[in-house]
Amino acid sequence: MKVKIINCLEDNFSYILIDEKSLDACVVDPGEAQPILKYIEKNKINLKYILNTHHHHDHIGGNNILKSKFGAKILAFKDDKERIPKIDFFLDDKQIWKDGPFEFKVIHVPGHTSGHICFSFFNEKIIFTGDTLFSLGCGRIFEGSYNDMFNSLSKLKKLSPETKIYFGHEYTLNNSIFCDKFDKNNSELKIKIANIKKKLDKGMPTVPSTLKEELDCNIFLRAKNLKEFSKLRDLKDNF
Ligand SMILES: [Fe+2]
Repeated sequence: MKVKIINCLEDNFSYILIDEKSLDACVVDPGEAQPILKYIEKNKINLKYILNTHHHHDHIGGNNILKSKFGAKILAFKDDKERIPKIDFFLDDKQIWKDGPFEFKVIHVPGHTSGHICFSFFNEKIIFTGDTLFSLGCGRIFEGSYNDMFNSLSKLKKLSPETKIYFGHEYTLNNSIFCDKFDKNNSELKIKIANIKKKLDKGMPTVPSTLKEELDCNIFLRAKNLKEFSKLRDLKDNF
């Protein structure tokens, strides 16, 4: 299975997951259609599914065009049926969904939005975290409580540490400045920041990260309790 990273809009990441044998593919969070269309047509890929982590426009903006052009089916959380148009398959928390080479578990992670889900491709140890977990950061809390987001991140912390994390935005450099300011003596973080800068200098994306790196370096995952987490979230919102 190959993951092709597609830059969308200003700083969004969309991902095309391709089964290299059949060239069947899923796209995760197509913020816009054009760059995805271009890649699919150039590489003769069969787009079968559109996976949405949540309803924000910069994650679903390409849905309609991709669905009508390729007949791809839309998969999203069941409670988002009023705000993600034309869903074909309604997903539930902890559901395992499988078709051919594509098999993932749904992890409901409310906080950024009430219907936010992550797609855990457990066979490949890959997870798409949308706007819940970023490299060195987490999403803003728009529709939940601090407790919701803290619990959602706790669910992700239980995955295998070598899991590769594909997140929704290239916010990593800015996030690293925040982590560095409030976690000064973290030597793992210093190594991670050096690697991030190397990648960005070469024009490369900072995605994917790994859960191990995030457990070691991401200040929001290192928060020991809800109080500490809430304080950090407040500080970051005003950073
Ligand atoms: Fe969002």
